[in-house]
Amino acid sequence: MNLNKYLQEREDIVNKELDGLLPKEDEFPQRLHKAMRYSVFTGGKRIRPILVIAAAEVFGKTASDVINTACAIELIHTYSLIHDDLPAIDNDDLRRGMPTNHKIFGEAMAILVGDALLTKAFQIISQKSEGGRVGFAHHQPLALIKVIHEIAKAAGSTGMVGGQIVDIESEGKEVAFPVLEYIHIHKTGELILASCRAGAIMANAGDKGIEAITRYGEAVGLAFQIADDILDVEGNKEDVGKNVGGDAKKGKVTYPSVLGIDESRKRAMELVDIAIAALEGFDEKAEHLRAIARYIVERKK
Ligand code: IPE
Ligand code: IPE
Ligand code: MG
Ligand code: MG
Ligand code: MG
Repeated sequence: MNLNKYLQEREDIVNKELDGLLPKEDEFPQRLHKAMRYSVFTGGKRIRPILVIAAAEVFGKTASDVINTACAIELIHTYSLIHDDLPAIDNDDLRRGMPTNHKIFGEAMAILVGDALLTKAFQIISQKSEGGRVGFAHHQPLALIKVIHEIAKAAGSTGMVGGQIVDIESEGKEVAFPVLEYIHIHKTGELILASCRAGAIMANAGDKGIEAITRYGEAVGLAFQIADDILDVEGNKEDVGKNVGGDAKKGKVTYPSVLGIDESRKRAMELVDIAIAALEGFDEKAEHLRAIARYIVERKK
């Protein structure tokens, strides 16, 4: 199995679909649509939509069966990055190898681009299949409602946004380990978990299948943020497409700042083992998910 080829192919599918789903740059209000496209199409690994697809594939579905959900989650993720980079939050000027949205378009636009991407996500997910456009008619409406509910919850105040606010409020403080875990599981883990579960739910996986994918998603979700923390210490700017070293400067609560680099790496690797063990009952169709778990902690970007 060639993981790079697999990731590239799925990334291409997601990018092509996103291009069709987002308003064109010449559609009024043009500058808003230009700014939305700017952040969506300046790089991005597309790991969340790829997880939606890979989880659906375990249960015999293909990318086209879950593409709207996959794209919607990428839009929510992209919105979170735009807002995360704002001066009031992490105040970063480099993202996906390019100046951050507010640096190019201004803060008011960046805030509204985030709002527009977040709401666009739910428009896309609940879109009916018509006029050649792939939509929800391919799936059980009940599964879809469940998925919409889960994604909304994962992105909101008891999910990603909750994690982000505790992240900001903990800056410069010494916090107990459970607070660190809360931040990471929520600001990053929840949306990754929702991506995995959404793929499985849309693919009509049974209870046991969904339970296994949930254990996988929880582990890779947390591992992903630990790896992000490590890259902020050890990565280089050109590879990660972000300024590195910012976490320490801002006094962020991270795995390396609380546990040290070696222990952080050890925890991340343990989580990969947990993720792979969760997939024990699956055949070779889960091979991509297994490889993605390893990739998440080995990645350089
Ligand atoms: C960065 O996410 C922010 C986190 C939640 C850790 P990614 O590393 O997935 O960023 P992109 O989408 O590839 O730019
Ligand atoms: C990302 O956390 C959490 C989000 C929900 C955006 P970080 O603040 O560590 O992400 P990067 O390092 O800026 O991508
Ligand atoms: Mg942040
Ligand atoms: Mg940040
Ligand atoms: Mg980070």
